[in-house]
Amino acid sequence: MSLSVTELIPSGGIGDTWRAAVSHSTGFRGCTSNCLNPATCPRWRRRWEPYSTVPRKKNARPIPATERPMQISFHEWEDSAVAHRAAASIGSDEVQVWIARAPSDEARLTALDCQLSPDERARADRFRVSEPRRQFVFGRALLRQLLGACLNVEPVTLAFGYHPRGKPFLAQSGLNSDLRFNLSHSGLIVAIALAHGREVGVDLESIHRLDDWPLLAERIFSSRELCELRALPASKQREAFFNGWTRKEAYLKATSEGLTDDLPAIEVTLVPGQKPQLLRLPAGLEGAHQWAIQGIPLPPDFAGALAFET
Ligand SMILES: CC(C)(COP(=O)(O)OP(=O)(O)OC[C@H]1O[C@@H](n2cnc3c(N)ncnc32)[C@H](O)[C@@H]1OP(=O)(O)O)[C@@H](O)C(=O)NCCC(=O)NCCS
Repeated sequence: MSLSVTELIPSGGIGDTWRAAVSHSTGFRGCTSNCLNPATCPRWRRRWEPYSTVPRKKNARPIPATERPMQISFHEWEDSAVAHRAAASIGSDEVQVWIARAPSDEARLTALDCQLSPDERARADRFRVSEPRRQFVFGRALLRQLLGACLNVEPVTLAFGYHPRGKPFLAQSGLNSDLRFNLSHSGLIVAIALAHGREVGVDLESIHRLDDWPLLAERIFSSRELCELRALPASKQREAFFNGWTRKEAYLKATSEGLTDDLPAIEVTLVPGQKPQLLRLPAGLEGAHQWAIQGIPLPPDFAGALAFET
């Protein structure tokens, strides 16, 4: 069974107001720890039906055809025909985000090893610590399965190239595909974003990962963001920090830049409950592309963001 939460997003760049024209809830916080299991979690939407391109929200204003509404859909991965078909049916104005939990037992992980390329297996063998190795093997195996389903090819035959700062891309010209993707892992959770013809970046973090986040906040946030963070009740500040962190990093992963020293120049919203938005980019980059960010429904104690070209 797959999760599908679909939102229609109008084209438009920084500063645009998001209009979630479909009334599906993306609320994930407050779920129990097994909420990646759709069979036991009432919050996962367990329906699987064709995406609607018609606004469903009562009284939603019609979206003019010229605005080419984009769909952002969230899915829980399991290796099933339904999930393969959903990935294969990704539309040209759609961004899909797939979320999965890595197996915790070694035997199931070893079985995934054979789906990797020789260079990926060599990289996996170089990990000395088991958690990063598990994340890497599972992330790459899942990525190959999703891309293989989209392109109707055997996952193991896919070849990746790498941008100068490490962002992987599909390297086979013979595939004649404009499919773009990005991947993030934290703990046992992996998120993969897919889209045709537009760059995507995804980032997720466990909000318990860092204890020294207040120090890091001073390096990565602008003075406006710091004021906003410090004005929050202490109980909200950690979540706000990780909202800001993952939103900036998702944007930087979409552009392929990765982490930079100029993080305060990328301003985002961070207050819990506030709509994720890119508010400001470093000088010179504002006009280069139109980018938007979006939250990701995740298990409790995780923060995550998706960034994409609009
Ligand atoms: C890439 C980076 C953002 C990863 O962040 P992270 O939170 O540690 O890891 P995540 O789990 O979110 O993402 C890892 C995935 O992002 C992707 N990735 C790697 N580099 C990337 C980049 N520059 N942009 C976008 N995505 C990238 C890969 O798919 C990677 O998965 P993999 O382990 O299967 O290869 C961070 O390590 C970074 O900024 N690196 C930059 C490196 C750099 O500047 N190098 C300079 C070379 S001269």
